[in-house]
Amino acid sequence: AGAAPAVIPRTRSLARLRAAAAECQACDLYRDATQTVFGAGPRDAPLMLVGETPGDVEDREGRPFAGPAGRLLDRALAEAGLDRDQAYVSNAVKHFKFHREGKRRIHEKPDAGQIAACRPWLRAELAVVRPRVLVVLGATAAASILGPSFRVTKQHGQPLEWADYAATSPLTTPDGPPIDDAVVVATVHPSAVLRSRERDAAYAGFVADLRAVADVLS
Ligand code: URA
Repeated sequence: AGAAPAVIPRTRSLARLRAAAAECQACDLYRDATQTVFGAGPRDAPLMLVGETPGDVEDREGRPFAGPAGRLLDRALAEAGLDRDQAYVSNAVKHFKFHREGKRRIHEKPDAGQIAACRPWLRAELAVVRPRVLVVLGATAAASILGPSFRVTKQHGQPLEWADYAATSPLTTPDGPPIDDAVVVATVHPSAVLRSRERDAAYAGFVADLRAVADVLS
């Protein structure tokens, strides 16, 4: 459904990338969303986290993981001994996708075309930040970064070598992969923890996966 492919400036400045992404019309989500929610955090962050799409709060505030899922993420990171301020946090898709039910805006999952349209931005962020550890939060981020056949449920919490996935990653273009090496850890999406019927167990599993991340970084 993309009108025009994203035009990614050749720059190592996250501010310039962010400014260009604010104008992106590579898929139709820009029409109804308030703004592009670009990644946030230090460019020399050793840790990068990738979620799915901004939610209602993020769409209004312009910052990733600023709402309920973000609060859970912050708490889980702290419990695992990680600091959100030292992480670069982004999403696979950078516009809020929703439908309306009365006054409420209800989140929808981005489709494969929207994930693909937004992937060049994620690629560009990754190429600038070059994290030591890349955390994949949930199936949408996994599809964008590791491809549609990756199963978070099977591999969550396992430190994986990016080099083993680079050749088949959808982030790899004819120009090559965005990064040469990193450890990749997939885990559940914090919103899935919030929605889980067994929330305490889901939360404990999430923290355990993030502890594996902390072990790699230490
Ligand atoms: N969920 C996401 O995947 N990203 C956000 O930024 C907020 C909620």
